[in-house]
Amino acid sequence: MAIPVPEKRVKEFEEMGFGMFVHWSLYALLGQGEWARYLRKIPREEYAKLADDFAVTKFDGRELARIAKRAGAKYITLTTRHHDGFSLYDTKGLDNFDAPHSAAKRDLIREFVDGCNAEGIKPFFYHTKLDWNHPTYHGDFKKYLQYLRDSIEVLCTQYGPIGGFWFDGNWDRPPETDWEDDQLYALIRRYQPDCIIVDNAGMHRMGQASNQELDSVTFEQGRPTPMDREGMPKYMAAEMCQTINQHWGYGKADFNYKSLAYLIETLCACRKVGANYLLNVGPDGDGVVPAMQAELMAGIGDWINTCGQSIYKAKPCGVTGTGKNFALRDGNKIYFYIHDLSVVGDANVVPEGGRAGEKAFSGLPGSVSNLHWVDNGEVLEFKQEGSELTMNCTGYPYGVNLVVRVAEADLEA
Ligand code: GLC
Repeated sequence: MAIPVPEKRVKEFEEMGFGMFVHWSLYALLGQGEWARYLRKIPREEYAKLADDFAVTKFDGRELARIAKRAGAKYITLTTRHHDGFSLYDTKGLDNFDAPHSAAKRDLIREFVDGCNAEGIKPFFYHTKLDWNHPTYHGDFKKYLQYLRDSIEVLCTQYGPIGGFWFDGNWDRPPETDWEDDQLYALIRRYQPDCIIVDNAGMHRMGQASNQELDSVTFEQGRPTPMDREGMPKYMAAEMCQTINQHWGYGKADFNYKSLAYLIETLCACRKVGANYLLNVGPDGDGVVPAMQAELMAGIGDWINTCGQSIYKAKPCGVTGTGKNFALRDGNKIYFYIHDLSVVGDANVVPEGGRAGEKAFSGLPGSVSNLHWVDNGEVLEFKQEGSELTMNCTGYPYGVNLVVRVAEADLEA
């Protein structure tokens, strides 16, 4: 059976490879994560009062786009409305629980989109489907779905071309619930034909598509598995989203950050199977991305610039390595991603030596030449017999440790 050919928008989405997720709403003022209202049972009226304090004087859409750009992310997926029901955009009177009616008195999505456009970053709109605030969500559900579609229509028509929609919350109701998704997605196709449509499957249905119209499956907080696309009616991309610490929304006292090394490895693990990596930041109550988060993002950008430019266009090609090592191909170039190398030094300064040496790969689709490290151009020795290749990976020069080091070679298929 054949693997379907991806539509242009899906191919372009895959080639963006890395995006920055942004969770931001009134809950940022509390600094206890985006589920604070629900989990702490904050009454509706009390929560709504936060809008009076949501002045967000330091929010700068362009700065947000710069943080993403510096990280090497090609798109930002921002919560235009999260489960708390508050909209960062001007709902045009659909519901006054929105940014223009808050202390901000501005359309924050306008600023976000303008900032992205100025920096060449694609804006994506996260939009919740479950709603803790709107009375119809637990009342006249049909009416709620109309409200949802009207909201999406506003987003489709007021901000120019956008990269995509990222829905969330279907997991809140039993699987047999009719969300009238066909109508919702058709609306987007009508106004924004080049938009990617994602609908988060949640943590319990990772990698599953609830509707054939979707352009990508999701792996929330998981490790994406290789997609078996044989015989699929349509080529769907894959995307894995992840928190940078333990919460999506700003958590003032969440110190449990992932390390930069872990984030680099995770980006690689996603690209290993051709999935996008959507890494989250949570701006604080003023609208500022916490320094720690911006720094980790910047570190990923440094890694990409040093040796990881191939993560965007290169694709899985059936080559397998041992352990976490893998290879990607882009036309007549092949890239080997090598993990766990050690620094070459002396026993008095380098704690762990010897994790360099020979690394084996199999499944090579052609003969390899001109194998060298991307970061410093050092040429590497290797042996190839048919589809088997063994390369002699030198360790890191003293002063360097890239976590994952990339070697590039020419491929003659
Ligand atoms: C989960 C959370 C939600 C978050 C989303 C991001 O669905 O409930 O708060 O926005 O994950 O993937």
